[in-house]
Amino acid sequence: MTFDVEQVRREFPILTRQVNGRPLVYLDSAASAQKPRAVISAMSRAMEGSYSNVHRGLHTLANETTDAYEAARKSVATFINAELGEVVFTKGGTEAINLVASSLGATLKAGDEILLTEMEHHANIVPWHFLRERQGVVLKFIPVLDDGRLDIEALPGLLTDKTRVVALTHMSNVLGTINPVAEVIAQAHAAGAKVLLDGCQAIVHQAVDVKALDVDFYVFSGHKLYGPTGIGILYGKAAELAALRPYQGGGEMIGEVSLEKVSYAEPPHRFEAGTPPILEAIGLGAAIEWLNGLDRDAVAAHEARLYARVRERLNGANWLRVIGEAPGKGAILSFTVDGAHAHDVAQILDRYGVAVRAGTHCAEPLMKHFGITSSARASFALYNTEGEADAFVDALNRTQAFFA
Ligand code: ALA
Repeated sequence: MTFDVEQVRREFPILTRQVNGRPLVYLDSAASAQKPRAVISAMSRAMEGSYSNVHRGLHTLANETTDAYEAARKSVATFINAELGEVVFTKGGTEAINLVASSLGATLKAGDEILLTEMEHHANIVPWHFLRERQGVVLKFIPVLDDGRLDIEALPGLLTDKTRVVALTHMSNVLGTINPVAEVIAQAHAAGAKVLLDGCQAIVHQAVDVKALDVDFYVFSGHKLYGPTGIGILYGKAAELAALRPYQGGGEMIGEVSLEKVSYAEPPHRFEAGTPPILEAIGLGAAIEWLNGLDRDAVAAHEARLYARVRERLNGANWLRVIGEAPGKGAILSFTVDGAHAHDVAQILDRYGVAVRAGTHCAEPLMKHFGITSSARASFALYNTEGEADAFVDALNRTQAFFA
């Protein structure tokens, strides 16, 4: 299979629009990706043709919607090489991490250690801080090196017989660094710790096989994977999910309820209290099936080419500081421009139709490591073109001239 970016772009209606009188150059896909027709129409079709609540009804629409919802679970399971019962629908990646931190955290005691990294998104820091504040759990952090790599040499010295969980990002949303997760998992398991990977960025750009990784928990969101918002995935090894207590209580997560006692359903339903994000799960399933129709290696090569082109064209820019230059990194360019605040850079780029994110990227400890309070970030997706990469560089040069 090959990859034809122009053909792919035709699948994304929004990419034809203009912004500030210029063609949209959307370089904020790490925050949220645009949606192909396959996703839009799968959700519309469900609403227009067969919609009801799931797992509750006996009528035709209820059965059809339940089948569509469970088919989406099957798509996810196949996509990451998991078993069906190991895939929990959540409302996002953040909720998936909170679920593990809360339910697994309930078994921890004061002095137990959680090992994170300095490059985590707040979603993989704050839920663990709750355990520090409420239960006296100790948080430790694997440092980041100045080129944006994880300081993997520090890992053996940070793992102790008290380490219960190692939780880290598979790919940094700021640096684009792809972490050596196989090595981390092997060392963590040897120390008796569980491992959670935040795959929100990585799964968009590379194939993920949870069995090959031997990871205990893997989380990601739908909206960065060309699917809708309001849906995320918690993968957990069957035995790990079975050992977790429920996170939220409500309908559909129970075995039996009486006035005196309650018993719980088996995973994954134990963790899906209340009416789940039905349409969003169907949309995510459609996104995954759409991605399955592409040559993902060719997509990864395309994204790497875009990044290399931008990096090459900005090589001589002595006013630019690139944050994160780890070898083999993904197509995310975080940067500062001398003399300009990142917010101003983003606003001026927007005048040229170029959408980038600016701020802390929900990674304040990482900003602190690099001695900055914010950066601008251009993140590339499968629908971006070489022409757009050039338009970004041209707009950035003009933006810099404004501040010079
Ligand atoms: N985590 C998302 C980002 O990096 C929102 O922009």
